[in-house]
Amino acid sequence: AESWVIMVTAQTPTNIAVIKYWGKRDEKLILPVNDSISVTLDPVHLCTTTTVAVSPSFALFRIGCGLMGRYQFSCVFPFFSREIRARACDVEDKERGIKISKKDWEKLHVHIASYNNFPTAAGLASSAAGFACLVFALAKLMNAKEDNSELSAIARQGSGSACRSLFGGFVKWKMGKVEDGSDSLAVQVVDEKHWDDLVIIIAVVSSRQKETSSTTGMRETVETSLLLQHRAKEIVPKRIIQMEEAIKNRDFASFAHLTCADSNQFHAVCLDTCPPIFYMNDTSHRIISCVEKWNRSVGTPQVAYTFDAGPNAVLIAHNRKAAAQLLQKLLFYFPPNSDTELNSYVLGDKSILK
Ligand code: PMV
Repeated sequence: AESWVIMVTAQTPTNIAVIKYWGKRDEKLILPVNDSISVTLDPVHLCTTTTVAVSPSFALFRIGCGLMGRYQFSCVFPFFSREIRARACDVEDKERGIKISKKDWEKLHVHIASYNNFPTAAGLASSAAGFACLVFALAKLMNAKEDNSELSAIARQGSGSACRSLFGGFVKWKMGKVEDGSDSLAVQVVDEKHWDDLVIIIAVVSSRQKETSSTTGMRETVETSLLLQHRAKEIVPKRIIQMEEAIKNRDFASFAHLTCADSNQFHAVCLDTCPPIFYMNDTSHRIISCVEKWNRSVGTPQVAYTFDAGPNAVLIAHNRKAAAQLLQKLLFYFPPNSDTELNSYVLGDKSILK
């Protein structure tokens, strides 16, 4: 029997939304009720590494996921695999005399290994990086010619926010119009070099798993919140335009204002859900007050905050000086291992956008 193996390894960072995605108009295809915009982190921090391998000697599909949720992966793999196989092209390694033709891909089995360089249980977005990385690695392995936007429409169906992790820099997920979801995909707004003096610090407030998953939360919000409808129709479309402008002009004051307002409205929409969903806790609220007070006292915003479906604070500082001051404040007001709920570490990032 032939005994070669072909392997591809890819690395994908997670992304943090500054204009939030919350609510699906189609649960099966994962189509959102509004556009969203995110920033992709530095590949050094909060990133997934995935290796996919193929060999004629592999008799079965196998998955070894390290820290990444194996169950989540196994559920979505058949779909990803089918989609990428349908786009597979011939692969040739002349040196080793290996040739895989388009139709061989149907018979071959793939092995996957994936791990996160951060604790999955820390309540930090992990599925986004994981799914984006798997789709990208499979596409490379099978020599699919689709560009990253086209691949993002596949990753989207693992988890919505995953579609935004196929690009660096700032990324927009366009909700799309058509029913089959083919135009609901991610595009890059600016690349990672455009605004590289921003610094992101994540304050890990609680490492407990969230009580309401984003899937359940979104469903309940769509079913019960009137505020969500107002947000999706009237607020977000305008904010998306303003946010793109702010990013393109590196206008930190507008960027910070929009980011904080959108995070707060997302949590207001959660509160407007029946029964209400609480993702932030007292420590999250105290961090917001602390940042608001500081920004006000300086006169121009130094730091923006945003919270996803959990209590951890994502803080985006204007530059290194503001980041250093922020860390000082966090350590003073929220000392590690004190009786505040702030966990023993704050994940400081050197520079997110490199
Ligand atoms: O992609 P999901 O299903 O994990 O949902 C992500 C939802 C938020 O993180 C709260 C917002 C966002 O746009 O990423």
